[in-house]
Amino acid sequence: NMPQRGAPMTGGGMNPPSDNTNTQSSSAEEKALPIPPLLEDKNPEQGKAEFDLIAQEGTTEFFNGKESDTYGYNGNYLGPVIRVRNGDDVKVNVKNELSDATTVHWHGLEVDGTEDGGPHSGIESGETWDPEFPIEQPAATLWYHPHLLHKTGEQVYKGLAGMFIIEDDISDSLNIPKEYGENDIPLIVQDKQFSSDGTFEYNLNRHDIMMGLQGDTVLVNGAVNPYLEVPQGKVRLRVLNGSNARTYNFKLSNDQKFHQIASDGGFLEQPAEMTNVVLSSAERAEIIVDFSEFEEGDTLELTDQGTPFMSFRVTGEEGHQADLPGQLTTIEEINPSEAVRTREFVFQGMGRNVNINGKQMDINRIDEVISLNETEIWEITNEAGGMMGGMGGNGGMIHPFHAHGVQFQVLDRDGNPPPPNETGWKDTILVSPGEKVRVIATFEHPGVFMYHCHILEHEDAGMMGQFEVE
Ligand code: C2O
Ligand code: CU
Ligand code: CU
Repeated sequence: NMPQRGAPMTGGGMNPPSDNTNTQSSSAEEKALPIPPLLEDKNPEQGKAEFDLIAQEGTTEFFNGKESDTYGYNGNYLGPVIRVRNGDDVKVNVKNELSDATTVHWHGLEVDGTEDGGPHSGIESGETWDPEFPIEQPAATLWYHPHLLHKTGEQVYKGLAGMFIIEDDISDSLNIPKEYGENDIPLIVQDKQFSSDGTFEYNLNRHDIMMGLQGDTVLVNGAVNPYLEVPQGKVRLRVLNGSNARTYNFKLSNDQKFHQIASDGGFLEQPAEMTNVVLSSAERAEIIVDFSEFEEGDTLELTDQGTPFMSFRVTGEEGHQADLPGQLTTIEEINPSEAVRTREFVFQGMGRNVNINGKQMDINRIDEVISLNETEIWEITNEAGGMMGGMGGNGGMIHPFHAHGVQFQVLDRDGNPPPPNETGWKDTILVSPGEKVRVIATFEHPGVFMYHCHILEHEDAGMMGQFEVE
């Protein structure tokens, strides 16, 4: 369903990246960035929305003539964008046409546990699941993906993921780029390990369980080395790190400044000027890049640690010129004095023993019980240890902490106030080796929810627990 997917490459010897290089393939001919379609809302009534989602198997040609077995929603790889409004009553009809069971989790959505789509909401092969939920949160870029116990990594890696966008009166009223697919662009960034024949599979070895599965090729919306034509003006990029394990450090090739306007759970109060943005697995950032100073034909690249993986081609078209609003929204700060307790979560262990607070996931055990509507501080510690010389450098690795059904605010990182781009709503937070991060949240939805490391191989190995709000 994604336009241009699998566009044949012409000319130049096809030369997929080898297993041992860490460089983005430059041999793949660039193709236009596929833009996932907006999923049709089948309910014409205002304030209501209904969507059909089918998890299905297929094949996708990432390199010329080489078909990988993939999964997708309503297509062969990835899924359409579900777009709703705050206040909508939403129904989704999820059909599982995979040969395996699956679930669909709404990552970042504040819904009751029964609609959250976690490991308790398994959909057997051939079955359907029809959750209904109200949207009760501000405009944001969220996403959806499977959450089957021990199989999340495999199913996401094969292609099950899509963006879930909420709009509201504030996002409508702001003078920012908001034409979907024109100057409001989803970028789902994922890495894959292609084998020398140009296909990928989900094969874990011992190293991958430690580090999470990380690949040598970065895909954007399922395409290798895509380009995007941009007008001479401001463009909004909704960047989702949809990778299983990798943390990115995004930059533009000319070190140009950009503004981050939203984090996981919605707009920041003010745009944050930055030259790079770090996103661990599952984190999102909406950024505004200004192409108005460029000439027609200029190109600019988006890079990760200096390696380009997609480019922007500036056209002669005049784009969005208006200055960014100085104030995007207001976020009511949760006062730490409202917290009834502080709960501690410690990431520990390595390899198959990764755990939280010394425990590995047990679907029959509730680890934490929270009273409905109470505010708590959660203190998340990444106990260094694990990979020697792994990412993070000092003998440990990053663990992104994620909690379901709630958006939180960051109080501090090792006692220091969070950087400007972490002062808004978050549902996933990068915790570096040795670091302690404190977040605060009010738990307004009842049910059983997961908290876990969003390195999917860690989650699948057991770095996950359950909290019940009652
Ligand atoms: Cu992105 Cu538990 O999920
Ligand atoms: Cu989630
Ligand atoms: Cu982890």
